[in-house]
Amino acid sequence: MNDQFIQLAYLVAAVLLIRGLSGLGSPKTAPRGNLTAAAGMLIAIVATLLMKGVVSYTVIIAGVVVGSTIGAVLALRIQMTAMPQMVALLNGFGGGASALVASAELLNYMREGSEPTGIVPTAIVLGILIGGVTFTGSLIAFAKLQELLKGAPLVYAGQRFVNALLSVALVGAGVMMVMTPLDLNPFYVVLCLSLLLGVLLVIPIGGADMPVVISLLNSYSGLAACATGFVLGNSSLVISGSLVGASGIILTKIMCKAMNRSLANVLFGAFGAVDQATAAGGGSTDGRTAKAYTPEDAAVIFSNSRSCIVVPGYGMAVAQAQHAVRELADTLEEKGISVKFAIHPVAGRMPGHMNVLLAEADVPYDKLVPMDEINREFPETDVALVIGANDVVNPDARTDKGSPIYGMPILDVDRAQHVFVIKRSMNPGFAGVQNPLFFNDNTMMIFGDAKGTVLALVKSVRDLV
Ligand code: TAP
Repeated sequence: MNDQFIQLAYLVAAVLLIRGLSGLGSPKTAPRGNLTAAAGMLIAIVATLLMKGVVSYTVIIAGVVVGSTIGAVLALRIQMTAMPQMVALLNGFGGGASALVASAELLNYMREGSEPTGIVPTAIVLGILIGGVTFTGSLIAFAKLQELLKGAPLVYAGQRFVNALLSVALVGAGVMMVMTPLDLNPFYVVLCLSLLLGVLLVIPIGGADMPVVISLLNSYSGLAACATGFVLGNSSLVISGSLVGASGIILTKIMCKAMNRSLANVLFGAFGAVDQATAAGGGSTDGRTAKAYTPEDAAVIFSNSRSCIVVPGYGMAVAQAQHAVRELADTLEEKGISVKFAIHPVAGRMPGHMNVLLAEADVPYDKLVPMDEINREFPETDVALVIGANDVVNPDARTDKGSPIYGMPILDVDRAQHVFVIKRSMNPGFAGVQNPLFFNDNTMMIFGDAKGTVLALVKSVRDLV
């Protein structure tokens, strides 16, 4: 196929990818954005397959069939609540593929006895280095999220020093590789050290800090693909890789802001270390006990209320309670009670998790209020209704320096007149710490599965108010 035609197809693909990404900026345009980006990717793949350099279609078709089958089965079977693990795996495979392609190109040069020139040797090193770190780092993140490994940060004395030393050694071996590209020894060192560094950089991260590391690894996987694009001289891969890299960094910045961490803090690891007393589930409960209410009791308080802020969290996703929550909001509004939804940036298990679920239940977008805005409203609100959220409403994040979530901005539900919390037990949330909110005088626990409990509340409110 004519090279100019392929470059034109790549240009069209790049435009579609950028338009697709901009569509993902709002829930309304996201489905179309997704389709647009997918069309761009399809065009890029077809154009690549039409290139003169393709040696054998048999291996490519076999790869496409096996990969697509595994991908389709995984995508169909995966629960919404397990999306972060899936994303971690996909990031890891992306990074691993980039490292493999860059390595294969290097071995190809060696076989042909020709030396790579210009930017190519540097791109090969970066493809292997970033791809290797992304591959093992993402596998560790996957294992933590899937609870195959303990989610808590794994820290040891001198950890930062070891990581810094390894990074310096890795950069040194990378420079040697660029200077003597046909020498296998620095290649092996770069490959092994980057795989090791991926593990060591992610093990000290855990608990509530996982969203930051997932978005950072997402960005790394894009940067690795971009470097590999330079190795292959493929402009489409350079563009799509840099788009993933840049959007991953933007998401990382948003996540950092949500967790109140600096990017440097994230990059150099060892954050999220847990005060042992707090990790044991202690929390500052001061010997107080939580009060258990029934949905019928709660309906009585609703009958005297004018305003309610619903705070959804991971438990709403587990129970698939979003439609019941919508029904409750409609019922309260019919009774003249104003209802808004407070959205914490890291509620649930993936960025935008609550927005996606509530959009699925047709909750109007203008009712979803971001954290900074809604926090001003809690003191004037009659009822804060927390549905399966825990860490994102834990007041210890404001006051307890020993808490692993200290410094994370939270939804100030404790400042509302009355607080109802729907969850199944007193078990902690993702960060593994107890929540003193549950023991406050104005907090009432309604124990039960979120869906069943919300439906019972709907019935009680209809019967009573
Ligand atoms: P969590 O702190 O994880 O708390 C969720 C609560 O839901 C649990 O305490 C659990 O208590 C309850 N729950 C579970 N299943 C339930 C069900 N069927 N019915 C009712 N309640 C149920 O959730 P959150 O407040 O949304 O905070 C999110 C946490 O995850 C943060 O620490 C965040 O950093 C972390 N994280 C977020 C992301 C992103 S990007 N959003 C990614 C990875 C990790 P019971 O067991 O007692 O019911």
